[in-house]
Amino acid sequence: MKVVLVGYMASGKSTIGKELANTLRIDFVDLDKAIAEEAGLSITELFKKKGELFFRKTEALVLEKLLHSNKSFVLATGGGTPCYGNNMKIITENASTSVYLKLSIPSLLDRISKEKETRPLVAGIANDDLPEFVGKHLFERSMHYQKADSIVTCEAKTVNEVVEEIKEVLG
Ligand code: S3P
Repeated sequence: MKVVLVGYMASGKSTIGKELANTLRIDFVDLDKAIAEEAGLSITELFKKKGELFFRKTEALVLEKLLHSNKSFVLATGGGTPCYGNNMKIITENASTSVYLKLSIPSLLDRISKEKETRPLVAGIANDDLPEFVGKHLFERSMHYQKADSIVTCEAKTVNEVVEEIKEVLG
């Protein structure tokens, strides 16, 4: 079984993914961690030293390798993963199911403003400028996220409630 979680930065993909994997008794894989291992650099260093294009190429390679393996896992993708190249096609064709974890812009902003430093795309943006950036960015990316097999709205829900909803989707 391969469950793939997609959604914007800070939508809770890793937190929910870990808990879901736990309850399903399968592995949890964080795509960013797998990319960092493959490249031998942290995500921040990767962006700084090699640039975003190199990051995106590595992201696509690692994603494809994982989804073409015969392993079972819950995979937390990066916020940009579904939005580049054939990534979303590879996800929908190879995952048992894909889930878009949807959160409102105010909730995303609240989380991102507190956790900017580990995220190269927003690290240099002042908090005052974040609403415009995130609003526009999410608008551009939503069309890709919406191609997931199902959408779970995470607003005002606990991790366990979201996990239960995903388990219902899985049947
Ligand atoms: C990115 C999101 C990050 C990480 C990289 C690029 C993006 O992952 O993959 O910094 O393009 O939105 P998270 O969604 O876990 O923050």
